[in-house]
Amino acid sequence: MRPHHIERVLFPEDVIARRVEELAAEIARATPDPDLCVIGILRGSFVFLADLIRCSHRHGLRPRLDFMLLHSYGGGTVSSGEIRVLRDIDLDVRGRDTLIVDDILDTGRTLAFAAARARERGAARVRTCVLLDKPARRAVPITADFVAFPCPDEFVVGYGLDYDSLYRDLPWIAAVTFTDDTRDSTAIAAARSPSEVPP
Ligand code: XMP
Repeated sequence: MRPHHIERVLFPEDVIARRVEELAAEIARATPDPDLCVIGILRGSFVFLADLIRCSHRHGLRPRLDFMLLHSYGGGTVSSGEIRVLRDIDLDVRGRDTLIVDDILDTGRTLAFAAARARERGAARVRTCVLLDKPARRAVPITADFVAFPCPDEFVVGYGLDYDSLYRDLPWIAAVTFTDDTRDSTAIAAARSPSEVPP
């Protein structure tokens, strides 16, 4: 793990909550059949997905839920380009309206892979939803159907997103600033309560 700070909050907790509520309403308006299959991409989407499905319940959706565990990043900040399936779709999506939910759309490889897998499994319609859309390094031509926030070309953590398995618990989304200083990054990781990192 490289020395870094996570002091710059990009999306505070209240902003995320309001946008997720709006996004759930958008999805519900565009989904006449409430019997939707929702496939979350682990691990990064779990916090977003948990909030999104509870908001979508208020808007009348009753999704069946499943998860894929896909791996493309190793422990670092650059995609390896190769997607490994650590857990595949188990739910029967044949003939069903299916929504793939991920944390962030970056090169596009993960979302394109997951959408193709749902189509292979016979889903009637496959749409995609991401918390963050980072278009700067897109390698695969894919556009998400639903996006909570556009994201600058920075490595971001929090609200489910990690750096080396840390920071998924942050209630907000922050940019990681990599430094050359010799401060112990474990100590930096510990200094991240709301009072120390104002939104
Ligand atoms: P691709 O490149 O396949 O990437 O579109 C999607 C997956 O890459 C991870 N990713 C990130 N994770 N901060 C993270 O914590 C980031 O800034 C970031 N960019 C990409 C993420 O797991 C996502 O599912």
